[in-house]
Amino acid sequence: MSEKNATLHMGEKAYTIPVLEGAAGDRSLDIRTLRKDTRFTAYDPGFVNTASCKSAITYLDGEAGILRYRGYAIEGLVEHCSFIQVAYLLVHGALPTHEERDRFGELLNRHSMIHEDMRNFFRNFPEHAHPMSVLSAMVVSMSAFYPELDDTGNEETDMTVTRLLSKMRTIAAFSYKKSIGEPFVYPSHRFSYCDNFLNMMFSSPVKNYQPNPVVSRALNKLLILHADHEQNCSTSAVRLVGSSFANLYAAITAGICALWGPRHGGANQEVIEMLTQIRDAGGDVNNTIERIKDKTSTFRLMGFGHRVYKTYDPRAKVAKRLCEEVLNALGIHDELLDIAMKLEERALSDDYFITRNLYPNVDFYTGIIFRAIGIPTNMFTVMFAIGRTPGWIANWLEMRADPTMRIGRPRQLYVGPELRKVPSFIKEE
Ligand code: CMC
Repeated sequence: MSEKNATLHMGEKAYTIPVLEGAAGDRSLDIRTLRKDTRFTAYDPGFVNTASCKSAITYLDGEAGILRYRGYAIEGLVEHCSFIQVAYLLVHGALPTHEERDRFGELLNRHSMIHEDMRNFFRNFPEHAHPMSVLSAMVVSMSAFYPELDDTGNEETDMTVTRLLSKMRTIAAFSYKKSIGEPFVYPSHRFSYCDNFLNMMFSSPVKNYQPNPVVSRALNKLLILHADHEQNCSTSAVRLVGSSFANLYAAITAGICALWGPRHGGANQEVIEMLTQIRDAGGDVNNTIERIKDKTSTFRLMGFGHRVYKTYDPRAKVAKRLCEEVLNALGIHDELLDIAMKLEERALSDDYFITRNLYPNVDFYTGIIFRAIGIPTNMFTVMFAIGRTPGWIANWLEMRADPTMRIGRPRQLYVGPELRKVPSFIKEE
């Protein structure tokens, strides 16, 4: 292999495979013509080794535990920015000036309400409906109410993007109100993005909500931590659906559905359920660790392990620190945090986890923070979805603007029967 090319030897023949160079030392074998040249496909279940696109949005080094959005380290963004600034960064490629931030905030406020007729949809969901099912159904319904965009990079795209970012939070809060049987609270121009959401969640006709700056800051930071993560399962779903030129709402709904699964964003809910079970069974973490290691069970340590990180997830580091800060500032002692820390300590000194490079991921500590700021457990994955929306949108925009983009259409290795004849007894007379 030279710097620019690799060679694939197959019997007598040798094929040249170009090497693509990305930023920060990223390299990829360009196998775009592999099948045409050789008649072979590349077998890669779970796309473990497949770079499905070129992207300038998020950089992730799983060995070194580095995560950057548009070149900015996640730690710095969490420390210094609001979620709205980071959303702008992801979608537009640069941090906003003060004027751009204000204009963006104003646009988000202007588009925060949902069409009044959409409110009726909420009524027909059963009260026990999981908020993720409501969120996904409502987001795809937006394509029926708001004009579909058919181009990118224009005013109309800006409008759709803003609508989506803004209304996600209204839909999320309405789905919570529906689940507890309380009247919906409309968005208000008085509040910032996060305070507006908190107000829609927690105020009611008999209770005025006073946004708590500790809670608001924590929410901003949590949403930033979730804002993008390159080609993960949900973002890949957004790109795949979007590659058929389905509209943005449809593509984002695919992302929401992919996120819902417990191996992805649904893990944050499962972490709290797991910690609660441990607490209710007396708080001993050893039984749980032994159960996880038992290969006859499918039980996993939720909030642990990652496809790309083979070290501590940098988001989990920030979340762990934030968790302690928020609990202290709110004067809360949560037994679940004690159990989580014991579990982490026990797991990180166990051979099973060490040899497999399993460390806490973003979902391990975030649920405890969500709990502390009053978000109910079944809303955790919805919170993840609100946070991830700018990342999904940025990826969708990047994909649509890429002249080399083709419809997503993986191949397979067929292992079914060879040609068979329909048996005569089956043939119609
Ligand atoms: N607990 C116990 N064993 C685990 C865990 C875990 N959390 N994660 C991986 N393993 C084991 C797995 O059993 C396998 O062992 P063996 O080699 O003996 O068969 C080995 O580690 C490799 O696992 P894998 O499933 O092949 O790894 P993957 O890259 O396909 O899966 C993962 C990544 C995140 C789905 C997985 O680590 C997992 O299920 N974690 C728990 C769910 C979770 O916390 N998900 C949130 C991910 S981060 C945020 C997000 O993306 O939403």
